[in-house]
Amino acid sequence: AAKQIPKDFLHINDFDKDTIMKILNRAIEVKAIIKSGDRSFQPLKGKSMAMIFAKPSMRTRVSFETGFFLLGGHAIYLGPDDIQMGKREETRDVARVLSGYNDIIMARVFTHQDILDLAKYASIPVINGLTDYNHPCQIMADALTMLEHIGRIENTKVVYVGDGNNIVHSWLLLAAVLPLHFVCACPKGFEPDAKTVEIARSAGISKIEITNDLKEAVKGADVVYTDVWASMGQKEEAEYRKKVFQGFTVDEALMEMAGPNAFLMHCLPAERGIEVTDGAIEAPNSIVFPQAENRMHAQNAIMLHVFGA
Ligand code: CP
Ligand code: NVA
Repeated sequence: AAKQIPKDFLHINDFDKDTIMKILNRAIEVKAIIKSGDRSFQPLKGKSMAMIFAKPSMRTRVSFETGFFLLGGHAIYLGPDDIQMGKREETRDVARVLSGYNDIIMARVFTHQDILDLAKYASIPVINGLTDYNHPCQIMADALTMLEHIGRIENTKVVYVGDGNNIVHSWLLLAAVLPLHFVCACPKGFEPDAKTVEIARSAGISKIEITNDLKEAVKGADVVYTDVWASMGQKEEAEYRKKVFQGFTVDEALMEMAGPNAFLMHCLPAERGIEVTDGAIEAPNSIVFPQAENRMHAQNAIMLHVFGA
């Protein structure tokens, strides 16, 4: 049977390569319209979006809210204290109530099951704005940034240095859809989820390496990527992790080892002096700010895709 087209955007590998590339190319088109100052393109006019945040955010909140507004719609921010999903009210009830008022839901939650439940019970599309498991909108923005700066995504070498977290899982799921050389260099015990590594490997199109040797790993990278060592929800482990992750800081010397073609990427927020040095972030080959801006453009195209607009 043909794979059913999902109403939601929850994991990159729910889509095939053609669809992912179609969304990214649409992002480039719509970005050009928005950057030109033209505000006549209002495909989401009259639509409303509920944005559920169980965790803090700058990029995700502002890029979704602004992007949805620029396309003609209205977005409602619901912070951790507003809904208290799963505590004040069950997730399946939240999903059905919001479906009555809104055209789309964007949610940032802790446990991945919450986004799956929202999607299951909502009659409207649900977009994953980060869970403990993955962060697909981020990796779509990263892929867009690579298209712009490297000219391609396929067959690039992306070396992620640090914690095998939600960002790594989304990279692995992208590697299941299009060919990449993806390396995760992390301390022992902080590897990404084994099942997700298996999904990426068994797709059979990408080269996937999980290693503890970051210096060897970064050689010849097109992208060196890092993220915080203690994610949201793990902040009480921050001091312990600082000890275990000794030596995994992305600094200018590591970027030098990566070679002249390597761009530095970071999903932000960054803790300078911890997982990345100030010098590495401020260097000319750092593309972290264009990357952050692309959150909005990638997500605009994702929203247009789920609306079929
Ligand atoms: N990169 C990212 O998702 O940033 P926020 O946590 O600020 O949304
Ligand atoms: N891994 C980080 C990503 C933040 C955008 C976290 O989950 O906190």
